[in-house]
Order: sequence, then C-alpha cells, then structure tokens
Amino acid sequence: MSSLNLEVNGRAVQLQVDSHRLLVEVLREQLGLTGTHVGCDTSQCGACTVLLDGQPVKSCTTLALQAEGCRVTSVEGLAAQDGTRHAIQQAFVDCHGLQCGFCTPGMIMSTAALLQRTPNPSDAQIAHALEGNLCRCTGYVNIVAAVKQAAATLAAGATK
Ligand code: FES
Ligand code: FES
Repeated sequence: MSSLNLEVNGRAVQLQVDSHRLLVEVLREQLGLTGTHVGCDTSQCGACTVLLDGQPVKSCTTLALQAEGCRVTSVEGLAAQDGTRHAIQQAFVDCHGLQCGFCTPGMIMSTAALLQRTPNPSDAQIAHALEGNLCRCTGYVNIVAAVKQAAATLAAGATK
C-alpha cells in the first residue's frame, strides 16, 4: 500500500491505496463519488472522464497514484454548494442532452474541459473534444446543442 495525497472537488484527501488501484475505483469505492461511471473499462467510452489538474482523463485507465498531488474534479464537483446545477449540467437538462444518462457525467466533464480552453467552440471543435465520449442513446445532436447553450450561458457570466 502507498500513501496518496490529492485534492478531490476542492477537498484535500489522503488515502492508502494499492499500486494497481485505478483512479475511478478510488473515486467510486473509497470516496463514494459514484457519479463517475464505468462503461467499458478499456478507455473507449469516456463515461469515466474526470479532470486531472483541469485536463480530461479516463479514470478507468489512470492509476490512482498518477493523481498524486493533483486536483481531481468529478461531476460532483461542478454544482454549487447549495445544489444549484452548473451551467453545463443545466444545459444538458434543457437541451435533452441525455436519455439513459450513463454517458452524461463523462460528456459533462469533457465539455467542462473544452469550455475552459475554448469558450466559444465551433461544431468541429465540439466534435473533436467529445470524440472520446460515446453515447448510445441521443445521436449527439442534443449533446452538441447543450454544449453550445452552456458556452453561451458561461459567456454571459453564469459560472455556477
Ligand atoms: S469506462 Fe473508462 S473509457 Fe469507458
Ligand atoms: S444518454 Fe444513454 S448513453 Fe448517452
């Protein structure tokens, strides 16, 4: 077992983990953050996407120890303290950007990373940013609409 120190959704966390432990396992099983989903477990579907120091990573293929000293943001870290949805979460609701919802946490985290670096993305930039996130339900049209709504809302100043 090794000591792991990281920040998760703004909270300092110290854990003992096996060297083969995956980041998604720590989030879901040790920290109870089950909003991060496991769809494929082979780095293909993107349901497990979280931010590591602001960059999207697939937590099903990231060793927990790789997150040593990093800031981890999962979907639980986006909403305001009082539970008010983040603009991206609200946009997915408003635009019907989800059906079963399984892919949604990963879609939202990839969108968060996109909009941090590209506040007004083109369709091509949205498609590129979400190419590692698979959805078997929506056909993607409403997801893209949600990303555009979120971009517009954030640009208007509503960050939370
Ligand atoms: S569960 Fe990680 S990419 Fe599918
Ligand atoms: S909403 Fe069902 S997989 Fe995307």
